Amino acid sequence: MMYSHLFKSLPASSAAFASVLAGAVAASKSERSDANETVVSAGGWSKLTQCHHKSKDVVGMLHDLDERLENIERTLGASSSCSSTAATTSAAPPKNKYHNDSVGKSKTLPGIDVVLGSQWGDEGKGKLVDILSQEYDVCARVAGGSNAGHTIVVEGKKYKFHLLPSGVLNEKATCVLGNGVVIHLPSFLNELDGLKHQGIDAENRILLSDRAHLVFDFHQEVDGISEHRLGRNKIGTTKKGIGPAYASKISRNGIRIGDLENFDFFEMRFRELADYQMRSHPGLEIDVEGQLEYYRSIAKRVTAMTTDTIEYTNEQYDMGKKILIEGANATMLDIDFGTYPYVTSSNPSIGSVLTGLGVSPKKIHGIYGTTKAYCTRVGEGPFPTELEREEPGSIGEHLGVVGAEWGTTTGRARRVGWLDIPQMKYSTLINGFTAVNLTKLDVLTGLEEIKIGRAYKHNGKILNTMPSSLKTMSELEVLYETLPGWTEDISKARNFEDLPVNAQRYVLRVQELLGVPIRWIGCGANRLDMIDRGEGWDLSSEDKE
Ligand code: GDP
Ligand code: IMO
Ligand code: MG
Repeated sequence: MMYSHLFKSLPASSAAFASVLAGAVAASKSERSDANETVVSAGGWSKLTQCHHKSKDVVGMLHDLDERLENIERTLGASSSCSSTAATTSAAPPKNKYHNDSVGKSKTLPGIDVVLGSQWGDEGKGKLVDILSQEYDVCARVAGGSNAGHTIVVEGKKYKFHLLPSGVLNEKATCVLGNGVVIHLPSFLNELDGLKHQGIDAENRILLSDRAHLVFDFHQEVDGISEHRLGRNKIGTTKKGIGPAYASKISRNGIRIGDLENFDFFEMRFRELADYQMRSHPGLEIDVEGQLEYYRSIAKRVTAMTTDTIEYTNEQYDMGKKILIEGANATMLDIDFGTYPYVTSSNPSIGSVLTGLGVSPKKIHGIYGTTKAYCTRVGEGPFPTELEREEPGSIGEHLGVVGAEWGTTTGRARRVGWLDIPQMKYSTLINGFTAVNLTKLDVLTGLEEIKIGRAYKHNGKILNTMPSSLKTMSELEVLYETLPGWTEDISKARNFEDLPVNAQRYVLRVQELLGVPIRWIGCGANRLDMIDRGEGWDLSSEDKE
């Protein structure tokens, strides 16, 4: 029941997998009479608990685990039988429709692939983009602005990007900031200069869309003023001026990068906009002459990077070049799909690729949902599986400290919680992920037990969709299942089979619940700390055949 809507969103090629998986789930359902079972499709091996339940019966759980894995393999038609001592065998990629054996590990074909955030941001999109970008010719941002913060660690050296796509570290890639991005030029130029300082001169391979809107200092001030006015009800924005800049765009008095090519026109539009902002926000003072002087001084430099990126990107596609999109922010922060009003002011989900770059959906291949093995959120708003972070010795403290969960952009402590399956299914439904990038699995190392938020319950009923109402969100009860943890260091794992048994089981369980292959698994912050199970674990690779 819970799966039916998700299956509809999967490509036809994966429908067979879906029905096989549904069969596996149904088979395990019939083993139990637990009332919760019928609504959350739990297998015999997982313990479905309510928020505060803590299971102690690890031996019994292992027994259940084996039974469950056997059941799945039998139903999926895997050749080998499993036992508790043959974990690697039991966890090996099952011979099912999920895994496409005929596809190689590193074949990347022309077209557009997209890396998106599937939770509330900071899932580790930048790291995957950095790794993948080595194989791409063009790397683009399509939405958001300097509210994004993407950290890459290369041989211990940290790079932090806010406006530049993380693919900029690949010196062969051209980087594009598409028309959907809002650009604060002082921050952008600072970032570019900072990178040059670190030994990477990227200026001659960055292209700015002439249609991208500008974020001005006063937009950032207005962001701060609005937050201050909201007081206790504040959104918890990054104060980077994102909301006010998109408001100018939608109000049709915004200013675009291309306007700098004709400075007289830019000046006229700037004076009008500044005047409008000061009238709208009493107390706001704008140094109009100082700002105009600054923009005059950088106009030539910016214009040299400006182009029609719609034409450029589509031409590159036609020439057979490979294009990678780095999503910023995340689906649950989407102005339409997120936990409104606690969201950002753009559409960081799949639609932004079309509206923020100017390409046809027919050109998109891979859609990669980046998902932490747990959940975090910066700023205010609903977070159903949230854990207390401040309590010493708590699981919340573990996730926060071991995961180094402090914001890249604002330095704020990120709120932490368990992985949330209803939220992830919603995100999968909207974006149609062809593969999942499960990051920060290493952060779960050392936890005795790991919970997965498995279903939402409201007024005694299991919800099949993500509620839009904040009130409903605040009244939700989360049903959890509990899996055993592991203690082994996984940072050196490079193949799925290198992971401890319980880590493999966690990944397989998440994959089963989402109904999307987990292709990448993050084992540490470094560029190399990643398992890539290959293109056989990407539903888009079937289209590439
Ligand atoms: P983004 O905004 O989605 O690109 O993510 P951020 O860069 O804001 O936050 C992710 C953080 O986790 C960064 O500091 C990364 O270096 C780090 N990170 C990414 N993947 C992993 C992983 O698999 N393990 C660990 N321990 N850290 C990771
Ligand atoms: P990356 O790309 C985490 C959040 C803010 C706030 C809300 C609105 O690094 O994953 P805004 O400044 O956009 O008006 O703030 O959205 N937010 C993010 N949280 N990661 C991000 O980007 C975010 N971008 C926006 O914290 O709650
Ligand atoms: Mg981030």
